[in-house]
Amino acid sequence: MRTPVIAGNWKLFKKRAEARELVNGLVSLVKDVQGVEIVVAPVFTVLAAVKGALDGSAIKLAGQDCFWEEEGAYTGEISPGMLVDAGCSHVIIGHSERRQYFGETDETVNRKIKAALKAGLAAIACIGESLAEREAGTTFDVLRTQLNGGLAGLSADDLKDVIIAYEPVWAIGTGKTATDAQAQEAHAFIRGVVSELLGKPAAEAVRILYGGSVKPENIKGLMTQPDIDGALVGGASLKADSFAAIASFS
Ligand code: G3H
Repeated sequence: MRTPVIAGNWKLFKKRAEARELVNGLVSLVKDVQGVEIVVAPVFTVLAAVKGALDGSAIKLAGQDCFWEEEGAYTGEISPGMLVDAGCSHVIIGHSERRQYFGETDETVNRKIKAALKAGLAAIACIGESLAEREAGTTFDVLRTQLNGGLAGLSADDLKDVIIAYEPVWAIGTGKTATDAQAQEAHAFIRGVVSELLGKPAAEAVRILYGGSVKPENIKGLMTQPDIDGALVGGASLKADSFAAIASFS
């Protein structure tokens, strides 16, 4: 059985006071939710404030990115060990916005995943096709390439600490969710590729999250699909009531 994961990616939103308010609301709204791993990923500058507000809660803390070196002359970067030091257990890697605006590639994603695992973080590794790629019929090729590159050199054992997030770029922040069937088709394909790469037991165990305009109204349908194990939520994670409603999908 795969424990579902509901992760909130706050992107470039929420200063300290807003972050504390959001987390305080969330902690009380999800206190009775059982059997779901809930994760929040704030900006780096509010990690400490959010960690403090999460005290005693089962909600886990994630960074939105990390560098692959542990320390050194790398101005502006943050290392996996520093995220651990700030109280994180997870880190998002390879989000499509990082690929689009900050030059992230499958190779840098791969280096970051390895560094994150080495530091003891669970990596939420993002993949997904653009609208043009979907329309050109290359979705599966894109996903296969991203998986081959992103997971290169990892073992089946490493995969225990990797969560894959499938986020079709055309569904992010657009209000256009993939249909349950479109998402399931992609998730089943991803699990199949993971099985080819690292074996069936690893593929059966890995959690694959869907991301792209997830809201309280569509989470149930997505979660009834056999290969969808949770969600990576952007916009709807910025309000305690909507994120709590998503985390309470069952
Ligand atoms: O990381 C989250 C995704 O980019 C989804 O964002 O829920 O605002 O579409 P969204």
